[in-house]
Amino acid sequence: MPAQSQDDQQYPPLEEVPQHVGIIMDGNGRWARARNLPRSAGHRAGTENLRRVLRAAVEFGVQILTIYAFSTENWSRPEGEVHALLTILEGVIDRELQELHEEGVQLRHVGRIERLPEKLQQKIRQAIELTQNNEQLLLNVAFDYVGRSEIVDAIRRIIIDRIPPDQVNEDTVSRYLYTAGLPDPDLIIRTSGEMRISNFLIWQGAYAEYYITPAMWPDFDKDELYKALKAYKQRERRFGLVPR
Ligand code: IPE
Ligand code: IPE
Ligand code: MG
Repeated sequence: MPAQSQDDQQYPPLEEVPQHVGIIMDGNGRWARARNLPRSAGHRAGTENLRRVLRAAVEFGVQILTIYAFSTENWSRPEGEVHALLTILEGVIDRELQELHEEGVQLRHVGRIERLPEKLQQKIRQAIELTQNNEQLLLNVAFDYVGRSEIVDAIRRIIIDRIPPDQVNEDTVSRYLYTAGLPDPDLIIRTSGEMRISNFLIWQGAYAEYYITPAMWPDFDKDELYKALKAYKQRERRFGLVPR
């Protein structure tokens, strides 16, 4: 008998689902290397995988997903790899935007858009505009993003807006971040076993639960997401208080 596909599999309902999940999609290069493929093939496989993770996230009741797709430090990778990553993003918008829109996905970008090629910037802006009223899932794509620059950008804009120093508090800073208006992530997942944050949502993730899995990103499937969400439910979030 053929193995049951994960799409048809029944997953017991999770009583408590994190509203906002961040994912550091890491390990594409190692996934490719293990198969004697070029790194770009790993990025392509990782992008393919995103589609099934999005579906699974909607099915499990996640409302906001913030994915780390390209860090500002990633500009320093070999030119060919950077080019491949930009081309892949453009291809995803060209091929998948309509379907994502029909599925009710609202797209947003976090990071600095100005350094991306003009044509790609336009496509990103159009995608954001087209999907702005969708409510099924909010997908924040962190592309040319690092948390420290985000905080620097926020400080600059606070100064430009002449907010008096005694009126600057944590809420003010949050309102000036790229994620303004969104709740902080409850859970941050990192694939490929690395135990570091690599400059991802460093302000917003102050009280997030972290979940690290050895699975490389292209292998992170619906079962893996379910496991991560289940692990979250078993954690006790204390926010500095005493045990319940
Ligand atoms: C994550 O995979 C994707 C990006 C950072 C763009 P990597 O490309 O970092 O893969 P590894 O870590 O080298 O395996
Ligand atoms: C973090 O992964 C960035 C993304 C997943 C886009 P990296 O592979 O770039 O991070 P390091 O080099 O392991 O810290
Ligand atoms: Mg990596």
